[in-house]
Amino acid sequence: MRPLPSCRRKTRGISLGLFALCLAAARCLQSQGVSLYIPQPTINATVKQDILFSVEYSCHGVPTIEWTYTSNWGMQKIVEWKPGTQANISQSHQDRVCTFDNGSIQLFSVGVRDSGYYIVTVTERPGSSQFGTIVLHVSEILYEDLHLVAVFLAFLTAVAAVLISLLWVCNKCAYKFQRKRRHKLKESTTEEIELQDVEC
Ligand SMILES: *[C@@H]1O[C@H](CO)[C@@H](O)[C@H](O)[C@H]1NC(C)=O
Ligand SMILES: *[C@@H]1O[C@H](CO)[C@@H](O)[C@H](O)[C@H]1NC(C)=O
Ligand SMILES: *[C@@H]1O[C@H](CO)[C@@H](O)[C@H](O)[C@H]1NC(C)=O
Repeated sequence: MRPLPSCRRKTRGISLGLFALCLAAARCLQSQGVSLYIPQPTINATVKQDILFSVEYSCHGVPTIEWTYTSNWGMQKIVEWKPGTQANISQSHQDRVCTFDNGSIQLFSVGVRDSGYYIVTVTERPGSSQFGTIVLHVSEILYEDLHLVAVFLAFLTAVAAVLISLLWVCNKCAYKFQRKRRHKLKESTTEEIELQDVEC
């Protein structure tokens, strides 16, 4: 990555983080009956991975759960549902999201553009809601990983080459052995025939 844009992105990321914190504080003041537990608030991933945004809520009634996504490219609603009913998934995430009754969602085959802040809001009734954030970093497959893969492939190729030459040598030996045996057999049968000739 070039240094300048990444720097700008970082400051933007920090301001977004502050914004998310302020929102959290504001919602916290409203919350009474709902509690929300997020075991892993930061997730590092590589492209094409399936990501589980794991949360667990507790409240008295059946709440409405909503996930939104915030990044440098803007804010977007992902999904909204009441546990036990059909989820209303936004057009942008259709076929890429599945929901769980504990409020978690899974996002399939993430790309670098999926990096950002995922905000979950659990609303029991107007004025009683709880809110949490999970930060997702998606990176390209690292060069070191590719290097490892290349080494592994080279190793496999070497093993295959050794096996193939072993097979070839074995085949050669077996062929020679067979020829020798056939030769011997032929000799013995001609001897027998000669012997028979003499007897006659
Ligand atoms: C994710 O990566 C950052 C550096 O990019 C690191 O500081 C952080 O500890 C990592 N988090 C996890 C959960 O692996
Ligand atoms: C929520 O449910 C999913 C699917 O059953 C599970 O994988 C995940 O661990 C749960 N989350 C928590 C925080 O218990
Ligand atoms: C699903 O969400 C869209 C946009 O947020 C909304 O217009 C629509 O009424 C919702 N559908 C249901 C069944 O809730």
